[in-house]
Amino acid sequence: MKLTVRRWAVVPAAGRGERYGGAAPKQYASLLGRPVLSWSVGALLAESSIDGVIVVVAPGDRRWRRLPEAVDPRVSSCTGGARREISVRNALDALAPRARDMDWVIVHDAARPCLHRQDLRRLVTATRNDPVGGLLAVPVSDTLKREGDHARSHGTVAREGLWRALTPQMFRYGLLRRALALCLERKRAVTDEASAVEALGLRPMLVKGRGDNIKITNPEDGALAAAILRSRE
Ligand code: CTP
Ligand code: MG
Repeated sequence: MKLTVRRWAVVPAAGRGERYGGAAPKQYASLLGRPVLSWSVGALLAESSIDGVIVVVAPGDRRWRRLPEAVDPRVSSCTGGARREISVRNALDALAPRARDMDWVIVHDAARPCLHRQDLRRLVTATRNDPVGGLLAVPVSDTLKREGDHARSHGTVAREGLWRALTPQMFRYGLLRRALALCLERKRAVTDEASAVEALGLRPMLVKGRGDNIKITNPEDGALAAAILRSRE
């Protein structure tokens, strides 16, 4: 008997959005009349091969349960921690009763509302038979500078072979759980899931994605995200 491999999405949404500012954390900022988080979760729900989505919210968050996505039968939630990787770890723990080691976990930042359905599809398809998994990424197009003293450029860094890592990032449940646990135990900095997997000596697949899958980080990014989404209407 062949066990079906399932796909779970994890949406870290427990950050404070300090660089963005605003009255509410940026995942609840309004984007064309809909909260940023609704766009991000909605992009995942549009992919029919995803069996369940788990949204990680901050302790004491009272906004999440008022969102329409919170009552979707495919969606559940859990509480996050002080750092992004702790929030993701908590979601993997919450999935433990339902997920098998070979299932896929698709981690996607709440702060990336412009994920295009074709990009998600491309990632899912590209990694389908891969033993490790992979991430959406974009080759670096700007010239890169190395800062020296007094914010002066001390040199130019060759950009050949350099990519910007985006989300979603997609790995097998058992592998990702082990990778994150090891990094947390060794107090290694993990800025994304791929870096945790790399620390195990494995090589995540770079799947070229769209450059307009931006992460809302600074105040000006809100208008940019709105323009990107409007252009697709
Ligand atoms: N995140 C999380 N738990 C944390 C920190 C971040 O779930 N303890 C989530 C954020 O909600 C966001 C994603 O991880 O969706 C990417 O993080 P980032 O863009 O850095 O968001 P914030 O940490 O909220 O922003 P800032 O660093 O400016 O405070
Ligand atoms: Mg942060």
